[in-house]
Amino acid sequence: MYSVPYAKLKWIEGVVPFSSEFDDIYYPSENPLQQTQAVFLEGNTLLQRWTKDTFQGPPRNAFVIGELGFGTGLNFLATLHLWRKTVTQSAHLYYVAFESNPLSITDLQKALAPFSEFSSEVTHLLNSYPPPLRGSHRLSFPQYQATLDLVLGDANETIQRQLFLADAWYFDGFNPASNSELWNPELFEILRTKSHSETTFATYSSAGWLRRALESVGCLVTKVKHPEGKRETIRGVFKSASQKLNVTKIKRASIIGGGYAGVTLAYTLATRGVSVHIYEQESRICSKASGNPQGVILPYISRKPSAASSLYLPAFLYARQQLAHLERHSDSSLFNTAGIIHFPSTARLAALLNELETLMMPPEIARRIESTELCNILGTSIQSPAFFYELGGWIQPSSVAKTMLNEHGNLIDVITNSSITSEKLLTLEKESDVVIYANAFEAAKLFDSSDLPVEAVRGQLAFIDESQHSTSLEQILCYDGYLLPSQDGKHLLGASYDHGSYEETPREHENGEMLRNLCHWTPELFSETAQATTARVAFRTSTRDRLPIVGSITSQEDISPNHAFFIGFGSRGLSSIPLLAQQLTSSLLQEPQPLSAAEAKAVNANRFQERRLKKES
Ligand SMILES: Cc1cc2nc3c(=O)[nH]c(=O)nc-3n(C[C@H](O)[C@H](O)[C@H](O)COP(=O)(O)OP(=O)(O)OC[C@H]3O[C@@H](n4cnc5c(N)ncnc54)[C@H](O)[C@@H]3O)c2cc1C
Ligand SMILES: C[S@@+](CC[C@H](N)C(=O)[O-])C[C@H]1O[C@@H](n2cnc3c(N)ncnc32)[C@H](O)[C@@H]1O
Repeated sequence: MYSVPYAKLKWIEGVVPFSSEFDDIYYPSENPLQQTQAVFLEGNTLLQRWTKDTFQGPPRNAFVIGELGFGTGLNFLATLHLWRKTVTQSAHLYYVAFESNPLSITDLQKALAPFSEFSSEVTHLLNSYPPPLRGSHRLSFPQYQATLDLVLGDANETIQRQLFLADAWYFDGFNPASNSELWNPELFEILRTKSHSETTFATYSSAGWLRRALESVGCLVTKVKHPEGKRETIRGVFKSASQKLNVTKIKRASIIGGGYAGVTLAYTLATRGVSVHIYEQESRICSKASGNPQGVILPYISRKPSAASSLYLPAFLYARQQLAHLERHSDSSLFNTAGIIHFPSTARLAALLNELETLMMPPEIARRIESTELCNILGTSIQSPAFFYELGGWIQPSSVAKTMLNEHGNLIDVITNSSITSEKLLTLEKESDVVIYANAFEAAKLFDSSDLPVEAVRGQLAFIDESQHSTSLEQILCYDGYLLPSQDGKHLLGASYDHGSYEETPREHENGEMLRNLCHWTPELFSETAQATTARVAFRTSTRDRLPIVGSITSQEDISPNHAFFIGFGSRGLSSIPLLAQQLTSSLLQEPQPLSAAEAKAVNANRFQERRLKKES
C-alpha cells in the first residue's frame, strides 16, 4: 500500500548491479560512465544547449529532464556533474525521475561506490534519499542549483499525475523484452503530452518497433552508432508535441505575514532568484502561531492513502531535508530528533496501530512499539503499545526562520511594524509581480472570504517544571496532547483546541486538563499535583476541509491573478510548509511541481469556489 518494493539485486563480479526480476544489468560493466554520457547526455546535446552564451533555460529559467528508470541514479549524477560544471547563471536544473523498484540505500551506496568522481554528489543523494514510500519526493540540491523529483511507483500510473514539461528525456528502462510495461505506445503518448516541440530524447535501445512507436506519436527519430560501446542507439525530438512553455517572469514578490509560512516562502522564492519583501505587522518575525518556542515535526498516517497522507508524508520528509540543509548554515542545532512516541488516543489511531504492518509503512516513518520497549525507553511503567516515529523531532520555528533569512538575506527584505490594509495592498500590487497572503486567518480581513473559508482555532500551551523521571526524557510524547523534552528545566505541554474563540489570556483550567491527559498516558512521569508555571496562547488557521490553501485564485473578479494564498496550515504547518512553499514557487514560475495533480488540486485556492459553483448548477 504505502511502500513500493525494493529492487532485488545480484552483483556481477561483486560490483555491477543486476536485476533478478528484470533479468538485466543497471549499467554496462565496461565504461559505464562513458556510455551514460554518450547515450543520454550527448544524445540530448546537453553540453551545447547549456553552454550557449545566453542560456536562460528554454525559455523559462530552468531546464527539465525526465527519466524513465532512475535505478542507481548514475545518469542523474553524471547530469548533475555536467550541469554544475557548465551552468553559471541562475538557471535551475529539474530532474523528474520515475522508478517502480528503488534500490535500498545499502544497494545504492554499493552501486555508486565505483564512481569516485561524483563523491560529493553521491553523498548528497544518499543523505536525502527517501524511504520507499509510494509517490513523489522532492530532493533539493541547492549548491548545485538543481532539484530531483523522484517519483516512486509504476511510471504508467505516475507520469500523467506529475505536473511538468520536459526539455529532454532519458528512456532508460531495462531491455524491452524483459521490461515491456515501460516500453509501450500508450506511455509514449503520455510522454508527448509532457513535451514541447523542441523536447529531445535518447535511449540505449535501437529496436525497430521502438523507432516506429516513437514515430507514431510524432517524433523525429535518428539512429546513432557509438564506437566505444559498438552499439546502436536512438535519439530524437518530439516534433509534433503541441504544449507551449508559458513564461511567467516573477522578479519581485510581496508577502503579507512574517510567520513560518511567509518566511519559508520568501526563502524558497529567493532560492529561485526572486527578490521578496515580507510585510509583518508585529515588531518581529514569528510572533504569532509561529512564535511557539517548540513545535513538533511528525508524519501523518491514515488507514487508506488519502489526499492528506499523500501530501503530509512527503512533506514531512522534505521538512527534515530542508532542516538538514539549514543546519549547515547555522551555528547551533536546529532539528532535535530523538523520535516521537505516539499513544493511540482515539479509536481511529488504535485501529491504525493494529493494522500498521498490513499498510506496509516504511518502519523508519512509523512502526509499532510494545509497552515493554516503551517502559525501557521511558523508565516508567506504560500499559499501552504506541507508534514510534523515528524520524520525527522538534524545532524552534523562529530560529529556523532566522537561519533562512541569513542564508538569503540579500534577496529578502523584512519590513516589520507594517500592517497591510486594503489601501496599502494597492501599493504592493504596483511594486511587485505577485502579492502573496501568508497572514494566516487574518487574510480574511483583506478580501471577501466567502470562497476561502478560514477559521482561527485557539490553542494554549503550558510550561511545567521537569520532574525526577522526566529529566532524561529525549523523545516527544504525543497522545491527545503532547509533551516535549525539557529545555532549561521546563517542558512544553500542548495543546488545547477551541474553535471560534479569540481570547488571548491563558485559562487555568486548560493547563489542568493538559496535565491530566499527560498523566493518563504516562502515570509515573509527573505527580498529579504538578502545576503549570506559565502558558502561551496562539491561533492556528484551519480551513473547511482541513487542508491548506496554496495557489492563486484565478476566477474571482475582485482578486487579480497576481494574488496568491499561502494559508490554512492548521496544526501541521511546521511539517507541511516547506514542501508547500516549493509547490507554490514552482507553480508560480511554471516549473515542475512537487505535488501530483490530485494533491495540487486538493490544496488549490479555487477549490471552495469550484465546489460552490458545482452545487449551485
Ligand atoms: C498552540 C499551538 C501549537 C502548535 N503546535 C504545532 C506543532 O507542534 N507542530 C506544527 O507543525 N504546527 C503546530 N502549530 C501550528 C503552527 O504553529 C502553524 O501551522 C504555523 O505557525 C503557521 O504559520 P503561519 O506563518 O501561517 O502563521 P502565523 O505564525 O500566525 O503568521 C502569520 C503572520 O501574519 C501576520 N499578519 C497578519 N495580518 C497581517 C497584515 N495585515 N499585515 C502584516 N502582517 C500580518 C501576523 O502578525 C503573523 O506574524 C501549533 C499552533 C498552535 C496555535
Ligand atoms: C536500466 S535501469 C535504469 C538505470 C538508471 N537510469 C541508472 O542510471 O542507474 C531500469 C530501471 O527502470 C525501472 N523500471 C522498470 N519498470 C518500470 C516501471 N514500470 N516504472 C518505473 N520504473 C520502472 C527499474 O526498476 C530500473 O531501476
